[in-house]
Amino acid sequence: MKLIITKHNLGLWAASYICKRWQARSKDPFVLGLPTGGTVVDMYAALAGLVKNGKMSFKNIVTFNMDEYVGLPPQHAQSYHYYMKHNLFDHVDAQAQNIHILNGMAKDLPAECAQYEAAIAQAGGIDLFLGGVGRNGHLAFNEPGSSFDSRTRVMELTESTRQANARFFEGNPALVPTQALTVGIGTVLDAQELLFLASGASKAEAVARLTQGEITPSWPITALKTHTRAALLVDMQAAAALTGPAKTQMREALRLHPEEDIILTL
Ligand code: GLP
Repeated sequence: MKLIITKHNLGLWAASYICKRWQARSKDPFVLGLPTGGTVVDMYAALAGLVKNGKMSFKNIVTFNMDEYVGLPPQHAQSYHYYMKHNLFDHVDAQAQNIHILNGMAKDLPAECAQYEAAIAQAGGIDLFLGGVGRNGHLAFNEPGSSFDSRTRVMELTESTRQANARFFEGNPALVPTQALTVGIGTVLDAQELLFLASGASKAEAVARLTQGEITPSWPITALKTHTRAALLVDMQAAAALTGPAKTQMREALRLHPEEDIILTL
């Protein structure tokens, strides 16, 4: 995998990368896996800007979101349905039938998950899966311990995740749902290409796991290392705890080319 350390805005970087991949696509529809979270708000704003300026269109893009809380209706301000509508879909030309978001209100949650996997397969698989990273290294809502071949399923959220996401729920972890639906790590790894983003000091420990430990389900982020076309895009704060050769390479690159992105192969 590649670790890309940039001083530029992660969201602008990622949006322009998505646009390039879309322009170079070999087929329609182009299928995107999409995340939510604070880290990717800028990315969605930048994508909306590209669509507004005619540089990109969502008309033939099929999207699959990674996850959704169980028990929050789509109109709940903290549901991922609401997030996606307000951050992206209200501002681009996506067709409603091309948008897929797990239904956390479904009566039969396992059936909802199985249907989601089937829909991804029917769309021909995901071309580019975008994602964020949890403080504890989770990918989507795959909490530590999730197997690398896991599929879309119900997940019990850890205390750490509920604490981290409490900022969106009046600062009160008790208001954060206890369960979520999430694509599996196996579902993510099946995509042709992965681009994950991590920003800020609270993600530094998870990012450092890529350079200091083994590949282990205890740190779901390390699953990225098993994919042949995966990149993690980070800012300087999230890269602050790298160890070993990666740390040395980063320092050397910063000394020689302080303004350029640093690309490390891990
Ligand atoms: C939630 C989401 C993840 C996301 C993570 C990071 O837990 N389920 O998909 O990666 O938050 O969010 P943030 O970008 O707000 O730090």
